Amino acid sequence: MFGFVIGHLIGNLQFFVGPEAINNYGQLLRTSPELLWIIRGFLLTALLLHVVFTLWVVVENRKARPQKYIKQASVQVKQSTRLMAISGMLLLAFIIFHLAHFTAQNVDPSYAGFHDEKGRHDIFRMMFAGFSNPLYSAFYAVAMVFLCSHLSHGAWSWMQTVGLRTKKIAEPSSRGARILALLLAFGYISIPAAVLFGGFGKGYVAERVRSEQASRQESEQGEHISPAAPAALPGDTPSPSAKGPASASAAAGKPSTPANQPPQLPTRGAPVPGEPAPPPVPLPSAPEPPTPPPQAPPPPPAKEGPQP
Ligand code: HEM
Repeated sequence: MFGFVIGHLIGNLQFFVGPEAINNYGQLLRTSPELLWIIRGFLLTALLLHVVFTLWVVVENRKARPQKYIKQASVQVKQSTRLMAISGMLLLAFIIFHLAHFTAQNVDPSYAGFHDEKGRHDIFRMMFAGFSNPLYSAFYAVAMVFLCSHLSHGAWSWMQTVGLRTKKIAEPSSRGARILALLLAFGYISIPAAVLFGGFGKGYVAERVRSEQASRQESEQGEHISPAAPAALPGDTPSPSAKGPASASAAAGKPSTPANQPPQLPTRGAPVPGEPAPPPVPLPSAPEPPTPPPQAPPPPPAKEGPQP
């Protein structure tokens, strides 16, 4: 689990490198679906075994001593065990929510429609949209604190169980586990914090929303625009740079209201890959040459007076 959490953090920190890096990483994971499913199967089995064995040990302990102690001597051990149970349950809830949120994209189905200009799933925009919501960010942050506590105590207990916790290394090893868990929690929390408080990714997402709106409007207007007169297209100016604010609703790909988005003029930008191609513009038939007015019949010869 420690290994996965470290690897996953390294992958997620590519968010700070930019959309190209993290979207490419997501695409790479999908180039070998067999390997991905082996890792998923391994993680799921490990998680299930961990939960089942923990419950089993709890039940066995209760069975071994049904009546309570008169005086609780190991109060500290009891507390950390209780904390492990609480953090473990919260982490399980977090993992279920997290998979529904980012992997299955059930929490907000609009994430599935996010694609970058190369047609890859736009993980960067999905993370930005997810963490623009303060509730989700707070839940992730709290879960990461519990993850930190669960991992550091878990490492400590594991060393105790396998007999590695000798007197000599007890103190440095438990300090090492605590520092590593703190670093992991800090690394994970830095992502929602950067989005929520630093607006990280705002410019990129605003630009993607603009470009999608432009191509949508272009395909809507395509039927009315004659390809013979492209110069007449309004808004044929260079697209403004991505500096404007991107609201969470815009990031989620929802149509923006006039209150948060100025009306957009259509631009002739490249179509977004992955979106259906706009319908072909019907060519208007060539205008008929103007027909000349009907020829008047030649005037009859003028009547001449009687011949002498
Ligand atoms: C701030 C914290 C986290 C962020 C931003 C994050 C981000 C992500 C993202 C973006 C994905 C989807 C990747 C894709 O679609 O290719 C994902 C998947 C996943 N995450 Fe996290 N994650 C976080 C914390 C965690 C933690 C703490 C765990 C476990 C202890 C975890 C376990 C998983 C698992 C199991 C998957 C599914 C991988 C797969 O099968 O595709 N994540 N995460």
